[in-house]
Amino acid sequence: MLDVNELIDVEAGTQSRRIFWDKEIYELELERVFGRCWLFLAHESQIPNPNDYVTTRMAEDDVLVWRQADGSTKAFLNQCLHRGTKLCMAEAGSANALSCIYHGWQYDAAGNLKTVPLENMLYGDSLDKSKLGLREVPRVESYRGFVFGCMDPDAPSLEEFLGDDKWYMDIWSDVPGGVELLGPPGRSIIRTNWKLPTEGFVGDVYHLGMTHGSILKAIARPAADFGPGAGLQSTSRYGHGHAIQFMHQNSLLHSVSPELAEVHQVRKPEDLPEDRTDDQRKLYTSFWDGSFFPNCSYLIGLNVFKVWHPIGPDKIEIVTWALADKRMSDEEKRRLTVAVHRTFGTAGTLEGDDMDNFEFCVRPNKGYFTRQGKLNAQMGKGNARLDPKFPGVVDEMVSELSIRGYYRFYADCLASENWEELQKRSEKWKEQLL
Ligand code: FES
Ligand SMILES: [Fe+2]
Repeated sequence: MLDVNELIDVEAGTQSRRIFWDKEIYELELERVFGRCWLFLAHESQIPNPNDYVTTRMAEDDVLVWRQADGSTKAFLNQCLHRGTKLCMAEAGSANALSCIYHGWQYDAAGNLKTVPLENMLYGDSLDKSKLGLREVPRVESYRGFVFGCMDPDAPSLEEFLGDDKWYMDIWSDVPGGVELLGPPGRSIIRTNWKLPTEGFVGDVYHLGMTHGSILKAIARPAADFGPGAGLQSTSRYGHGHAIQFMHQNSLLHSVSPELAEVHQVRKPEDLPEDRTDDQRKLYTSFWDGSFFPNCSYLIGLNVFKVWHPIGPDKIEIVTWALADKRMSDEEKRRLTVAVHRTFGTAGTLEGDDMDNFEFCVRPNKGYFTRQGKLNAQMGKGNARLDPKFPGVVDEMVSELSIRGYYRFYADCLASENWEELQKRSEKWKEQLL
């Protein structure tokens, strides 16, 4: 019998080993995590013009994200209302209407069912096409060009959901001209649970020296300065978090891809308008790893942007883009794309190291005796603080604060019937983490 209140102990900093493989927990996640939170859908740079579309997923639901004639964006379940086959098979394209490959029902970009082959002959006037439009994702909002969708009409706005993380996102995305995602993305399927890579990116700097030891040795780099003052970790109310290393953000990328370094316009503190503080300038050129709750991650400085789509409790589809500054030249973007897929693509030198760990955290934790133990994320407990200069709850860079913050909100999601309950339950989030 599943008792969700026993899965996560925020105060102790421990988690049940069941969360990485249990089917019952997974079904509840589909309803209460993915059915309730804002999920990354696309970046506006992927659909710049009316009628442009991309296909993606919200957890296991296929979704079609379609730019409208008025410039707004709508998202629909990518599924024909007739016999239910997938409507749009392409990854991306541009069309003012799409026809189903099965019997040819045709839908326009606003989701209306426009034509049904041989309608008069076969249906007479019995088919009410107005009730057979594509099922629309009820909430679609974008922030700084990043488009998110939410299945819950009662959810707070996207900006409220980003919470304290918005201040940080403003820093890494506010390069002159903005940022964009370069595609087509890389894709791979891995046997792991969707939370493992997200928690890795949300704030696990600790693993660098061990997990990535051989590649760091090969390129003659020390892992990182793990000591006090080397960086900052932060977590926010709705589970988003990141770790920031105060080294120059591109130094690792350039070590792995020297041919990119030759043409790369690196970020400089003076790029920013005069009203920015010295701290904001320092963070702007620092190296970041981070995750948006529940399943989207990024590396600023390795220029990687990822979504971890669940396919059951023990399988994920990874989608990887290069995250570029729009002001980069075409040649810079080309070399950056190569660099991103070389490091964090399907066969990326760093990606491969991480995925081995993520896979081995799933099957072995199912063992009857193993599952009775707890996972430990206690590093930095007691050190978390509020800081007048940095929003959220913060700690030194090497800490497990963000992992605890991620699972704190995860536990709130699983225990709540709706957003009203979820808001109440997460009200005291700071006190829980301090
Ligand atoms: S299933 Fe789409 S037209 Fe029949
Ligand atoms: Fe890693």
